[in-house]
Amino acid sequence: MPVISFANAKGGAGKTTAALLLATEVAERGKSVTIFDADPQKWISKWYELPNRSSRISVISEISPASITEQITDAAAATDYVIVDLEGTENLVVANALSVSDLVVVPIQGSSMDARGGAKILTLIGKLEKIVRHKIQHCVVLTRTNAAVTTRAMKAVQDFLAVQGIDVLSTPIVERAAYRDLFEFGGGLGDQCPKQITNLDKAKENAEMFAAEVLERAIVIPQKRWYHIFKKAS
Ligand SMILES: Nc1ncnc2c1ncn2[C@@H]1O[C@H](COP(=O)(O)OP(=O)(O)O)[C@@H](O)[C@H]1O
Ligand SMILES: [Mg+2]
Repeated sequence: MPVISFANAKGGAGKTTAALLLATEVAERGKSVTIFDADPQKWISKWYELPNRSSRISVISEISPASITEQITDAAAATDYVIVDLEGTENLVVANALSVSDLVVVPIQGSSMDARGGAKILTLIGKLEKIVRHKIQHCVVLTRTNAAVTTRAMKAVQDFLAVQGIDVLSTPIVERAAYRDLFEFGGGLGDQCPKQITNLDKAKENAEMFAAEVLERAIVIPQKRWYHIFKKAS
């Protein structure tokens, strides 16, 4: 049911990694997931071609600005969770996907460029809320953080978010080779071999905590009206 989108107007913020960690965690908990691969780079679709594919996960990559709202609402009716991995930009696909999301997760790395890309999405959410006339729940997840130290750039980003009163997950996604390896070997963290991947246990623990925090925020608002606001513009 809940639709969870990952958005940041900047590429490389960690959207696809975060989306995949959530999708594989949810599938490992026995739930069905539809992932919308809404990035022309198609990283999720490439991952889906690799071994260890879960029968609980399906991936949709054929999308258009005109069709995406309907595709997402159909998938939300058919599977337990819908996860949307968006392109690192602001366009009609992004706006339409955000407008039908129950939760938007904005991954931000510890850099001011990422924070500005994230701020663009937060501003866009504010505009969309006025159009759809309901709140679009959103939060920030800090990504690629150093397990040992908080860098000065990261501290600056945290301060910036705190001043804006933005909901930031208390679990950041730590920089882990295990997360990159998923795109090499396929599947989720549970499918990886501990002998081949360093700190797999720590990665699993981090991903589980991140997923738990996201899921606790992904609440479907009843009687939400689905507006197909940009349909004519495509
Ligand atoms: N937590 C992480 N640990 C290690 N590598 C990461 C992490 N998050 C992202 N990366 C790497 O950073 C790059 C960009 O991440 P990605 O998730 O593709 O960002 P986006 O989807 O926002 O463009 C990729 O090479 C990815 O493997
Ligand atoms: Mg991506």
